[in-house]
Amino acid sequence: MNRIAIYPGSFDPPTRGHEDLIRRALTMVDRLIVAVAINPSKEPLFTVEQRLAMLAEVTDHDPRIEYASFHGLLADFARERDATIVVRGLRAVSDFEYEFQMAMMNRKLHGSLETVFLVPAVDLTYLSSSLVRTAARFGGNLDGLVHPSVAAALATRYGR
Ligand code: COA
Repeated sequence: MNRIAIYPGSFDPPTRGHEDLIRRALTMVDRLIVAVAINPSKEPLFTVEQRLAMLAEVTDHDPRIEYASFHGLLADFARERDATIVVRGLRAVSDFEYEFQMAMMNRKLHGSLETVFLVPAVDLTYLSSSLVRTAARFGGNLDGLVHPSVAAALATRYGR
């Protein structure tokens, strides 16, 4: 059985939390599509191409991973790619309501798409891309929070 899962997100930028989740997901599926969602209402720090390149770098260009981007509905993208699983992380109770609604909506839109929630490493549960961006903008220490290549990209982006 060829189990294909999608791990969707903004990944602006990818953090050690995302890497941790990708590693955990790879223990359960044959192929993982790490998919950058193109959201016209968000103004990202990094372009889609930069985020895809960073994701490939931080995961060592793992051959089990496909790095993709998508417009529109996740349910449609999953159908297009024959993916049957959506992987999402639950960092804290505060993530639950939003994630639960999204999982229900995705099930309504695509009846055989299952959402699987993974729990990240405990020391990464507070992490988010916007916290990383804020810390980077003001020269904060990002050791342990992002891959060195992401830290370098943030430093360049903020002119440090
Ligand atoms: N470690 C660290 N940070 C994490 C994390 C983890 N394991 N999991 C989530 N986060 C952070 C992200 O960095 C991001 O941080 P920020 O808001 O501070 O930048 C935040 O949590 C939101 O996570 P993200 O995974 O990027 O989700 P999102 O809310 O931006 O996007 C999509 C979620 C892309 C999956 C969803 O919007 C989507 O599917 N869009 C397509 C349209 C659609 O089909 N919608 C659903 C049905 S209508």
